[in-house]
Amino acid sequence: MYQLTINNLTEQEFLSQYWQKKPLLIKQGFTDFEDPLDANELAGLAVEESIESRIVTNHNNEWLAHHGPFEDFELLTEQNSTLLVQAVDHWHPDAAQLLEPFRFIPNWRIDDLMISFSTPGGGVGPHLDQYDVFIIQGEGKRHWRVGMPDSNLKQFAQNNSLLQVEQFPGVIDCILEPGDILYIPPGCPHEGYAVENALNYSVGFRAPNQQDLLSSFADHIIDTEAGNARYSDQQLALRASKGELIQAEADQVKQLIQSLLDNDTLFKTWLGTTVSQPKHEMDLMPPEQAYSPADVEQLMHDTDTLFERLGGTRAVYQVFENEIILSVNGQNYNLPLDDLSAVKCLTDQIHVTGDELNSSKNSLFFIQTFTTLLNEGIWFC
Ligand code: SIN
Ligand code: CO
Repeated sequence: MYQLTINNLTEQEFLSQYWQKKPLLIKQGFTDFEDPLDANELAGLAVEESIESRIVTNHNNEWLAHHGPFEDFELLTEQNSTLLVQAVDHWHPDAAQLLEPFRFIPNWRIDDLMISFSTPGGGVGPHLDQYDVFIIQGEGKRHWRVGMPDSNLKQFAQNNSLLQVEQFPGVIDCILEPGDILYIPPGCPHEGYAVENALNYSVGFRAPNQQDLLSSFADHIIDTEAGNARYSDQQLALRASKGELIQAEADQVKQLIQSLLDNDTLFKTWLGTTVSQPKHEMDLMPPEQAYSPADVEQLMHDTDTLFERLGGTRAVYQVFENEIILSVNGQNYNLPLDDLSAVKCLTDQIHVTGDELNSSKNSLFFIQTFTTLLNEGIWFC
């Protein structure tokens, strides 16, 4: 397990003073840091078709981004190159452990673990990210500069593929050593170049924008065949100008849309599915033979059963009208409130014992739900 210390700050002090406000260098956030993998293992992942990877090179000031999967690593030269692999937490349980210390931030905000390996001089150049990130230094050293958000900074695409930002004044200029961490809020320009071969682990977050939310909500309305109320105007009165669309009509159209947002069942059901949707493929671990609910009850009563949650699993719950909406990887399960402590075990922990699950009186719905989740290979024991 990785134990995080944020300089001399408590987690709450970090949230109040730095989260989404200003960057922070966390010296020795992890003491005696041990890398969960090495560059060869990372390259092994970048060979896979289902795993998103890139190699970025910057030879003679020419920035190029190449997309994986890679058959060989000729592009990953001894200098000025970086291999980046997305969502490694979905594929590598030891690497997935690096997300755990950051779960003091709500789970639905956590996105994935990206890992990069850079050779001296390698990096992705000066850029902005839309999301918060903690960059952990593993093996090697990397020189980082971080600035404050500045709407005047111009972004441009290098060779049509790598979005960068013009030079910026730094408020942090440091060389990260193993176990050091940089927290970078959204919009802060940053650049990091390896001083020696370097592994970096980026704990990334999600923050949907209005476009994402509205298009996902519209999809949900279509999928659930909701939203069929139609504009009507029984009380239509004659008006002087036939070309005018009057304010009351505009208000009525807005209200048609607003009434969907005001439908709490529709809204919360959608919210659960959308925030729990993984963005990358999952490496599901279904059992060789499907469990029955009776098998699962038996497993939960065996004192030595340890249920493990699949890396990359997104599990959140909402309490709504005396029910729980449990959302796992884009799927909702409705459960009675009596199951709350068992549901919390599933959403708040990556390992859970049968005893912990049994600490509440579990409903048949819970047993059935957990059976489904085990049979899908999202939890396994
Ligand atoms: C990297 O590890 O090279 C990129 C991390 C980042 O800048 O977000
Ligand atoms: Co970045």
